[in-house]
Amino acid sequence: MFSIKTKIIISYTVLFGIILFGFSFIVYQDIEQTLLERLDANLDKYCAAIKERINAVAGEQNGENAGDFNNDPGNISHSDFRNIPWMDLHDVRLAVYTIEGKPVVEDSLLSSYGKPNGNNLKKSEFLTRKIHGKNYRLFRSPVQIEEDTLYAVEVAASMEPINANLRSMTMLFLMIIPFALIITGVMAYVISVAAFKPMARMAKEASLISGNNLDRKLELPRSHDEIRKLGETLNEMIKRIEAAFKSQKQFIANASHEIKTPLTIIRAELEFALRNLQNKEVKESVRIALEETSSLATLTNSLLLMSSLDSLQFTLHLEKFRLDELLIDCVYAMKQSAAQKPVSINFNIDDAVEFLGDKEKLKRVFENLIDNAVKYSGTNSTVTIELISLAGNTIEIIIQDNGIGIDATEIDKIFERFYRTPEVRSTYSGSGLGLAIAKEIVDLHNGEIKVQSELGKGTKVTVILPA
Ligand SMILES: Nc1ncnc2c1ncn2[C@@H]1O[C@H](COP(=O)(O)OP(=O)(O)OP(=O)(O)O)[C@@H](O)[C@H]1O
Ligand SMILES: [Mg+2]
Repeated sequence: MFSIKTKIIISYTVLFGIILFGFSFIVYQDIEQTLLERLDANLDKYCAAIKERINAVAGEQNGENAGDFNNDPGNISHSDFRNIPWMDLHDVRLAVYTIEGKPVVEDSLLSSYGKPNGNNLKKSEFLTRKIHGKNYRLFRSPVQIEEDTLYAVEVAASMEPINANLRSMTMLFLMIIPFALIITGVMAYVISVAAFKPMARMAKEASLISGNNLDRKLELPRSHDEIRKLGETLNEMIKRIEAAFKSQKQFIANASHEIKTPLTIIRAELEFALRNLQNKEVKESVRIALEETSSLATLTNSLLLMSSLDSLQFTLHLEKFRLDELLIDCVYAMKQSAAQKPVSINFNIDDAVEFLGDKEKLKRVFENLIDNAVKYSGTNSTVTIELISLAGNTIEIIIQDNGIGIDATEIDKIFERFYRTPEVRSTYSGSGLGLAIAKEIVDLHNGEIKVQSELGKGTKVTVILPA
């Protein structure tokens, strides 16, 4: 569904995002813990100062007898603690209780939250409470006066500075994380594009390699990495395919060559037998055998020609000749099969047209095109051959029939080796090599073959050659 590039970008970004979130969470927790510990330590210090003051006030008021002071708590008031510093604490609140929970010094905020009872005043404890919508850290601790514990102090400080610190840290994370993720995504994109560039280039080069140009090799990246290794492996594979292709072509060429001579002999013998046989039925069998031998000979010739076109040593034998005369020769060769159907062949040929090319090979091209036009036409139809020498510098040879035609979806395929349209496969003889060979020969002359056709209506084949 996704390309590897996209997968890399997504997984990099997601992974980095998870790491970043995890890291931020741990940092947040750690800082929150540290700030709370500092607040607790300050509260503890402040509480200790309060306790000291209570002890001092108790000593002043009772001399050696602290017990009397203990029984008369009304003597302690807010003013006794006014000048005790707040130790970096904010919105500090203070309440003093008897150990049973009776208030001695009250604070409006703390009492609105709820007075403690005797049980939770006997030990020191820190608490976090929300009072009037604001968070406060509370510290309760019993006060020791000489051997007795008859009072407890409750101090509280606002947690707003801590929360403000945490809020600004969260804001910072929320700004940094998306920015870091965008940078990671962009970096992952740049890195993956750079990493896949040689791969994309090799894929493009590989797509241009086919059976005809197996001698081409993939260009390897300079870096000695996995992609170069892949390229080297592909090049070795292409080399092996090329060797296999060569030996297969060689085999076809050798086999065709070996078959040619016995076929010629069989043909000659069958022709001799046909001339001298009397029995009608046997004669018909020999005629069929002769026909099949002819198509086998055509196939062998096509295979031989194909392998010679494929071989690297192939060269055109160029000579100047009259194209109009060549076409007349081709039609003459086709005369017999055209007359059998019958199909009439119309000529529409300009004056003499001279051409520099491989006469024998071009003869094969036009023979096959005219053969196709006759073969795939109905009885009593007409095949028209036109030779037009255009004022510019091209020559057009048009071979038109009104035969069975070709489906639009098939037109591109008919130039493939051995391809035959479904309409002809079982009805007409042929190997499907004629047009493939024709195209290769015309290409070698820097020309072009165009096919226009409509199923059931007919076909127009145009060969365009540079003059
Ligand atoms: N004029 C035409 N009208 C209809 N179909 C055609 C015509 N010319 C070619 N074709 C289609 O294209 C296919 C390929 O043609 P090609 O000449 O390569 O092979 P073939 O005629 O079947 O065999 P051969 O190798 O003997 O020429 C044919 O089998 C046929 O289906
Ligand atoms: Mg043909």
